[in-house]
Amino acid sequence: MGAFTNPFRPGAGHQPPYLAGRHRETDQFKKLLQQETILENLVLTGLRGVGKTVLLESFKPVALEEGWLWIGMDINESSSFSEENLAIRLCADLSVITKSIKISSQTRWEPGFTSQEKVEDQFLSFELLQRLYQKTPGLPLDKLKALLQTCWEVLNRSEQFKGIVFAYDEAQNLSDHSEQGRYPLSLLLDAFQSLQKMGLPLMLALSGLPTLFPKLVESRTFSERMFRIVFVESLSVEDSREAILKPIEEADAVKLSEESVAQIIHMSKGYPYFIQYICREVYDAFMIRWDKGEQASVPVAEIEEKLDTDFFAGRCARTTDRQRELLSVIAGLQNCDEEFTVQEIVKNSRQQLEKPFSSSSLVNQMLAALAKQGLVFKNRHGKYSFAVPLLGTYIRRQLARK
Ligand SMILES: Nc1ncnc2c1ncn2[C@@H]1O[C@H](COP(=O)(O)OP(=O)(O)OP(=O)(O)O)[C@@H](O)[C@H]1O
Ligand SMILES: [Mg+2]
Repeated sequence: MGAFTNPFRPGAGHQPPYLAGRHRETDQFKKLLQQETILENLVLTGLRGVGKTVLLESFKPVALEEGWLWIGMDINESSSFSEENLAIRLCADLSVITKSIKISSQTRWEPGFTSQEKVEDQFLSFELLQRLYQKTPGLPLDKLKALLQTCWEVLNRSEQFKGIVFAYDEAQNLSDHSEQGRYPLSLLLDAFQSLQKMGLPLMLALSGLPTLFPKLVESRTFSERMFRIVFVESLSVEDSREAILKPIEEADAVKLSEESVAQIIHMSKGYPYFIQYICREVYDAFMIRWDKGEQASVPVAEIEEKLDTDFFAGRCARTTDRQRELLSVIAGLQNCDEEFTVQEIVKNSRQQLEKPFSSSSLVNQMLAALAKQGLVFKNRHGKYSFAVPLLGTYIRRQLARK
């Protein structure tokens, strides 16, 4: 056997060596692709590192196989996202699939161009799409609808497609900013809802943190009915086993015992990022032992320490002392890995802290600040959860080390 390199890939959006599980989620997506008239769009949502990006990516070949076109993009964190930016992004992304299509002067949206312009030999390029957007009269919504409708008509004329999937990752970044008079999210939702009503098979597939769906509903209440929410969660024990073992089937040097596998599942709680991270460390540790001809076991303490520095410490770096006290109270709640309430925090702080948190409104304010740092989030029922998986165990480890 040739040299076998460490196959595990902890990282944001890195395709894993083996994509474990996710059959239920993929089936749900396939069902959405069967719609003749689009009544439901997809929201993929879950905690950091749970595997949303790679899952969304894995839907692309599924969609293509079913005869759909796919436009994928990543909405980077950007507070300055405006209607105009959204349109430019769409033009750029659409042009990737439309730029090889020649348009003729008979196309019915020709009035959008000035009469002197010779359009026969033009391709549906980025510049042309942008011009079409700008020259369509009316509001941004009219412009965007005209753009999407035109693209669909031209694409559908050139070849028979079932529709187009517009896949946006990190879609929680696509917010309205009423104080700046910017409503890109409302615009996107209005445009797709209206075009879908007209029967156009243009489907949204949005993926993002748990704040995504509440944001959609806040922007447009009809979002509630417009989206099928698929929660991406940690992997089951069976699927975790596969994520751990499949990539090293061929590696002679690293044979994991049942005990080691159980240990990794226990440490990672089935969260894909942690599986990749821990397995990469285990692989390296086992290789060193194997070279020396020794038996190896999972170096739990070392890995936890490394994970704490590499992953958790950075995420908690901006917290104040008092915020850390609040986090430690939450980590002391039995239900900290699920949902918790402000009242529970207040109550527990009386037992746990010398200076307890006496007022709910103060705790609420502090939780809002922690939410801004991406550590907790508030769900639709007003309860809170940790936004980072296994944050509770990290905080408890920190407290134990003190
Ligand atoms: N089903 C899976 N099986 C094995 N590994 C996986 C699986 N899903 C994701 N991973 C791995 O987990 C890590 C995180 O995946 P990904 O970046 O898709 O998560 P995410 O939910 O998009 O995270 P973020 O919220 O930070 O964007 C990657 O290293 C990826 O390879
Ligand atoms: Mg991601």
